[in-house]
Amino acid sequence: MNDLFAALQSGTRTQLSVQACVLHGFALPFEDALLAGIATIADAAPFRHLVTPGGHAMQVAMTNSGRFGWCSDRRGYRYDRSDPQTGKPWPVLPDAFLRLARDAAAEAGFDGYLPDACLINRYAPGTRLSLHQDRDEDDRVAPIVSVSLGLPATFLLGGFARGDACVRVPLAHGDVVVWGGADRMRFHGVLPVKPGLHPRTGEARFNLTFRKVK
Ligand code: SIN
Ligand code: FE2
Repeated sequence: MNDLFAALQSGTRTQLSVQACVLHGFALPFEDALLAGIATIADAAPFRHLVTPGGHAMQVAMTNSGRFGWCSDRRGYRYDRSDPQTGKPWPVLPDAFLRLARDAAAEAGFDGYLPDACLINRYAPGTRLSLHQDRDEDDRVAPIVSVSLGLPATFLLGGFARGDACVRVPLAHGDVVVWGGADRMRFHGVLPVKPGLHPRTGEARFNLTFRKVK
C-alpha cells in the first residue's frame, strides 16, 4: 500500500461482518508506547517458538503480557499465569495497551472491554499463521482486539468451519481488527509476510491480540 492510500484509509473503518471490523490506523497514536512496551515485555519474557502438540516448532515467535499467557507444548494449548520459560508471572499489561484495547473495542461496539491477556506475535518475512479459531478462552463472546505493527500482511477472516471461504484483509502498521459476539469464533489466519523493511520495526511484523480469558 502506498503512503497516500494509507493516509486516506487511516481513521476509516471497514466492516467485515456484523460484529467484525477493521479500524484503519487506530493504533497510530499509540505506536511509540506499543513498540516500547513490546521491547520491555520481551526483555522479561523473551520471544520464543512454541512447540505444537504435534511436535512442530511454530513459525511465529511469541510472548505474552497480562494475567494469563497463551502457551503451547507437547501437552496441548492452554493459558498459564506464569511464563514456563522463566517461572515468573507474565509482564503486566502496560496502561497504553489497555487503553488502546478498550478504545478500539468501544469504537467497534463493545463497551467496557477489559482484557486479561495479550499474546504478542512476531513474524519474520516468509512466516504465516495457519487458519485457526481462538478457542482456549473461557469467554467466547468478548472481542479479540488485534493490533498490527510493522510490515504489512494479509489477514484471512473465514467462517465457522475450517473449509469456509475467507475474505482477504490487507493490514498495515497501526490497523486494528476487532471481532466478537456473533463473529467471535470465526476462523482466521495470516498469509506469509512478504519481505520488506519497515521504518519502525525493520524486517518484522508484530501483532498484539488482546483477549478476555476468564
Ligand atoms: C492471531 O490470530 O493470533 C494473530 C493474528 C494476526 O497476526 O494478525
Ligand atoms: Fe488467533
